[in-house]
Amino acid sequence: MNVKIIDLPKHEDPRGNLSFIEEENHIPFKIERIYWIYDVPGGQIRGGHAFKEQNEFIVALSGSFDVIVDDGKEKRTYSLNRSYYGLYIPNGLWRSMENFSTNSVALVLSSTDYNESDYIRNYEDFLISKDER
Ligand code: TYD
Repeated sequence: MNVKIIDLPKHEDPRGNLSFIEEENHIPFKIERIYWIYDVPGGQIRGGHAFKEQNEFIVALSGSFDVIVDDGKEKRTYSLNRSYYGLYIPNGLWRSMENFSTNSVALVLSSTDYNESDYIRNYEDFLISKDER
């Protein structure tokens, strides 16, 4: 599974810390879209789906949550809880996000524009798509 945690630059400063992301430098794709998930009520699960083409990079800008990534054979859980690293998830993997802490913010950098036809929202269809590869 080509999923990986990527450490970002961190400029520590008594005035407050600063981190940043450059496309095709810190993350291995060009950024077409940025979205964020926030005000998640306790116990809710987001993002149970796979993408056919979209690569993404997820950062916990504030608070914490877990990202569960599944290649159809194996599941891995990544706890994101700092804003100076993130999780790179290439296309073709089922992923969901859960255990959001109060006031957490999930920043998602995406390699594609929003396109509903890029989603696989049914887990059985996802498993079939893995078998066809
Ligand atoms: P969705 O990706 O299904 O959310 P999650 O992965 O957290 O379950 O998106 C929820 C809704 O928002 C869906 O109706 C599509 C819409 N949406 C956009 O219009 N543009 C976007 O960039 C995203 C990510 C979602």
